[in-house]
Amino acid sequence: MPPSTHPRKNIWQGLEIISRGANRLCARDPRDPAYCLKFELPSAERTRVGARQRARRWLARHFSRLGENQTELSAYRELRARLGAGTEGRLAACHGLVDMPQGTALRCDCVLLEDGSPARSLYHHLFVDPRYPASRLCAAVDAFEAWLLDNDVPLFDLNAGNFVVVPCADRVELICIDAKSVVSGKEILPFSRWSRRLMQRKVARRAQRLRERIRAALQDGANLQ
Ligand SMILES: Nc1ncnc2c1ncn2[C@@H]1O[C@H](COP(=O)(O)OP(=O)(O)OP(=O)(O)O)[C@@H](O)[C@H]1O
Ligand SMILES: [Mg+2]
Repeated sequence: MPPSTHPRKNIWQGLEIISRGANRLCARDPRDPAYCLKFELPSAERTRVGARQRARRWLARHFSRLGENQTELSAYRELRARLGAGTEGRLAACHGLVDMPQGTALRCDCVLLEDGSPARSLYHHLFVDPRYPASRLCAAVDAFEAWLLDNDVPLFDLNAGNFVVVPCADRVELICIDAKSVVSGKEILPFSRWSRRLMQRKVARRAQRLRERIRAALQDGANLQ
């Protein structure tokens, strides 16, 4: 489900909202704007999903280590332990769970633009404020896909809400802000996690699907910069 932003309702419990995803709300950290805080939303505020996802949410409410924040933290730590500084510029760093007056949050580096504002999601640049041509965004997907394949990273949830876009000279870069899918998937028998070849093929399929979505969303945008 795509994330949505609420420009007129951008405060939540006193915090400045960056964006609202399907399961979580991402806000700026009031103590340091270089960080953001992700809060798992109560059931009533989440987007509607199918039976398997509902079961996952039920489990997460009863076993916090199955929640989105703990899952994302585990995925990030696993990749960081294996790739070290190789994650920089590809994944937003996660720093741990923090107790806030609003509830427990996952504290992450907030991906920022040069002017200090949070980078916007790829979804935002496809459907809300299209400002880059499809070719440039697809080239950024190519580069991200090559990094995943070179490093055997089983990141399968390549959806436009899980990346933010950062301009860089005449290119743009994608930074993943949600790596949960490295450790959690929807498959009952996760063959693509057991076989390197299947994993690589699945990453390539998902990257291709993302490029197709970008081209479909921006097909009328031939006059973009
Ligand atoms: N580290 C970050 N820096 C800048 N923006 C972020 C960051 N993390 C999240 N965001 C913003 O918040 C949105 C939602 O983030 P995220 O994917 O982590 O939550 P979610 O989609 O609710 O999670 P889930 O995948 O469990 O549904 C992103 O599309 C992005 O706009
Ligand atoms: Mg997400």
